[in-house]
Amino acid sequence: MTSITLMSERGVLSFLTAQLESALPGATFRHWSEPGAADAEIAVCWAPPKGALASMPNLRLIHSIGAGVDNILSDPALPDLPVCRVVDPKLAAAMAEFILWGTLYFHRRFDEVTANARAGHWHRLEQMAAGDKRVGILGLGAMGERAARLLSQVGYQVSGWSRSPRQVDGVTVHAGEATLDGFLDQADILVCLLPLTPATSRLLNAERLARLPKGAALILVSRGEHLVVDDLVGLIRSGHLRGAILDVFDHEPLPPDHPLWREPGVLVTPHMAGLAKPRVIAEQIAENIRRLKAGEPLLNRADPARGY
Ligand code: GLV
Repeated sequence: MTSITLMSERGVLSFLTAQLESALPGATFRHWSEPGAADAEIAVCWAPPKGALASMPNLRLIHSIGAGVDNILSDPALPDLPVCRVVDPKLAAAMAEFILWGTLYFHRRFDEVTANARAGHWHRLEQMAAGDKRVGILGLGAMGERAARLLSQVGYQVSGWSRSPRQVDGVTVHAGEATLDGFLDQADILVCLLPLTPATSRLLNAERLARLPKGAALILVSRGEHLVVDDLVGLIRSGHLRGAILDVFDHEPLPPDHPLWREPGVLVTPHMAGLAKPRVIAEQIAENIRRLKAGEPLLNRADPARGY
């Protein structure tokens, strides 16, 4: 019998329970706070409490419920066990759609149009062609590449930044740390899709955001920790930046009284840009448990040295 512990704050993984139970018939499920939870062989995680995984003597597999494993690898006491993530093939397409919407939102000035509509103002704002807008995608992994291709097909001038060189049709690629400033200098709309690692944490600070051209906008769909929120707000208030769509935050859900909800220029969306479907998450976890028991190679293992 397989014993599984759900490692997260209570309630966070409840959207998944029914799918996990049907994908893993006969398995036992406990929340981390229940007696006996530390005896489990499998930990299914979203931001597990730090140090908790190290106190599980029978643990054999640590499985993220998402594409990101930053919230697991950041545990300083992480045991030396396989960490796997979920790769939903439909997620990159969903993420690219959200980024296309966000790009159109700023490019076609829906931030202003929506405010005018609420106020009953018929005001036809000047519109630019997509080919006159420069979109910069920070992070050219599977998701960044998909979004870059889609935006390029729509006609935007698309550039991308990645740590190592790569080629994407229709996209100007800037590779390596030394090219970052030049990449930022020409992004009218900056999209952040980087994995969260110690090297990328708080990368979007005042100095880097100030490099963006005047009137530029930010779309943040990676992790809240990529951004220094106060620096962004300062640059929007000073008029250097036009605004931002923020889909991810240091602490989620963003509390109802958080000032970002009401900050002019900022649109908060509830971590919806790209999430794996519960059925896909449950099936991939079940398949990896089967593989673990059969001694077969696990799917989608994270590389703790690389950080994702
Ligand atoms: C979502 O942010 C994920 O990591 O899947």
